[in-house]
Amino acid sequence: MPITHEISVDLPGRSYKVTVGIDILTGLGRIAAASDGRVVVITDSNVRPLYADAVQASLSDASGRSDVIEFPAGEEHKNLATYEDVMDRILSLEPPIDRRSVVVTLGGGVVGDLGGFVAATALRGLPFVNLPTTLLADVDAAVGGKTGLNAQAGKNLIGAFYQPEAVIIDAAVLKTLPADELGNGLAECVKHGVIRDWALLDFIEDNIEKITSCQPDTLAELIGRNVAIKASVVSADERESGERAHLNFGHTIGHAIETAAGYGVLSHGQAVALGMVAAFDIAESRSLIDSSVAGRVRKILTELSLPVNFDDLSNLPAEARNPNRLREIMAHDKKTLGGVVRFVLPVSPGVVAIFDDVTDEQIKAAVAALG
Ligand SMILES: NC(=O)c1ccc[n+]([C@@H]2O[C@H](COP(=O)([O-])OP(=O)(O)OC[C@H]3O[C@@H](n4cnc5c(N)ncnc54)[C@H](O)[C@@H]3O)[C@@H](O)[C@H]2O)c1
Ligand SMILES: [Zn+2]
Repeated sequence: MPITHEISVDLPGRSYKVTVGIDILTGLGRIAAASDGRVVVITDSNVRPLYADAVQASLSDASGRSDVIEFPAGEEHKNLATYEDVMDRILSLEPPIDRRSVVVTLGGGVVGDLGGFVAATALRGLPFVNLPTTLLADVDAAVGGKTGLNAQAGKNLIGAFYQPEAVIIDAAVLKTLPADELGNGLAECVKHGVIRDWALLDFIEDNIEKITSCQPDTLAELIGRNVAIKASVVSADERESGERAHLNFGHTIGHAIETAAGYGVLSHGQAVALGMVAAFDIAESRSLIDSSVAGRVRKILTELSLPVNFDDLSNLPAEARNPNRLREIMAHDKKTLGGVVRFVLPVSPGVVAIFDDVTDEQIKAAVAALG
């Protein structure tokens, strides 16, 4: 089981390790060994038939028992009803769990968020180990300790900062991931390059074919580099009071387009790709950055089959292209403070800064430029 990267996430008072490798799900016995034997795996209905047996088998090498709790796959299930159901099931296991029992989350960001929140709140907090299985979860959701659920009032409004004991990433499991889901993670990888590491974009561009065909060594390298970036940002600012906001690059307009399009019309990666293009457009209009830099990012997004304008998408409702509607959604975003929309804009390759003075005209022009 080759381990390719070990990255430490250092936080005030504690740190934990993210291990990246290939075919490492079969070496999980040490989790169980460290946990007094009792492990509960929380997973979803798509991931369970693919990987839960392998995880359970490797856990049982060192442990007497592990239980699996499955919930239906999909963002629409990341809610209080599923939370209640999973919580009831974990609390009624026999023999009962106790505070030494370990929760293992096996799945994408939905499983990590919901299962992590169950871990944070069951018996006032159980240790948890995150085994992400999507590229988005590997490079984004699994690192940083945000757990939670969607509420009627909006996405991710219920939750807690709760750090895992460890994150174990097996690049080999991405071979079963649908292409759109891979694209969601790739958009976040491009984002990381823009905000911290321009050379990461060279790596992506040089390896497009190997990445999109899920070649495990290349994916492990991609994941390792991206986890290191996310870990350094989170370590510097766990509670999002400062530079963690840089991770929002491309998400201000991106989220608005995603919301305006309506549930399930655009993938998150498609929306973020458009949001990044729009942010580059604003940066260009303010003479922050040269047009060749923006052109490079658009080229990479296109090579990754991510959209760079509205015409790259079929079935996009008119609402999602309407600058006034998008501006209205941005004003209601939970990251908007006191009505001021904060923008993360590129100022040189691999460097971004926060701007509070982007005008409505600049926002509308950038949306109009998307087509
Ligand atoms: N906590 C954070 O900091 C953070 C950051 C970003 C996103 N998120 C959250 O993450 C969620 C999105 O995560 P996601 O994109 O992983 O979605 P997801 O968990 O819904 O997974 C996407 C789909 O792929 C399936 N799947 C997962 N692994 C698979 C595999 N290896 N092979 C085949 N199918 C597989 C899942 O069952 C699901 O159908 C959102 O709810 C978002 O809010 C959280
Ligand atoms: Zn995102």
